[in-house]
Amino acid sequence: MNKKQIAIFDKTFELFISSAEINDIVIELAQKINALKYSNVVFVSVLNGSFMFTSDLCKRIECNPEIQFIKVASYSGVHSQGKVQELIGLKKDLQGKHVFIIEDIIDSGNTIETLYETLKAHYPSSISVVTLLFKPSAYEALVPIEFVGKNIQNDFVVGYGMDYNELGRELPEIYKIVN
Ligand code: IMP
Ligand code: MG
Repeated sequence: MNKKQIAIFDKTFELFISSAEINDIVIELAQKINALKYSNVVFVSVLNGSFMFTSDLCKRIECNPEIQFIKVASYSGVHSQGKVQELIGLKKDLQGKHVFIIEDIIDSGNTIETLYETLKAHYPSSISVVTLLFKPSAYEALVPIEFVGKNIQNDFVVGYGMDYNELGRELPEIYKIVN
């Protein structure tokens, strides 16, 4: 792969973040989480977009996390639908645990807001949000985003788990839409 430009359906995307840069970002995030020296940690990974990031991040984590996968959906095409659908797959034993929500990208914040409130109701010791990418200018929620891999502009991206209408998730690097 690693092409300068790719096409998915009707859209063209250009190379934006290389796999080498992603790797550096993942290492840095893992170091920050490891530095907390927490025990009783649960990673709650938000499918589908976070599968690749979660996999790479977990390999560098030293606090023996329990790893859960949940599913929500708020996106169709290139625009957020602004509403979050049902949350599937959460195991409820979060009491007294340090919960890390693992996201691929945070845009409007609708998803993270709902997730945060839902998880809070299970009495964890703490909840932290870890996201590979963050779009600060699109963010409308109040949940603090503690661990950000990289801030980006309000552009639609694909690759490394993230899709455009379900395609592009397998790409090892991240591409940004050419407007
Ligand atoms: P939010 O609820 O608007 O913050 O969007 C959250 C979810 O939408 C993310 O976890 C992604 O799965 C998806 N998403 C947001 N922005 C993008 C993007 O640029 N490309 C692909 N998916 C995105
Ligand atoms: Mg996601």
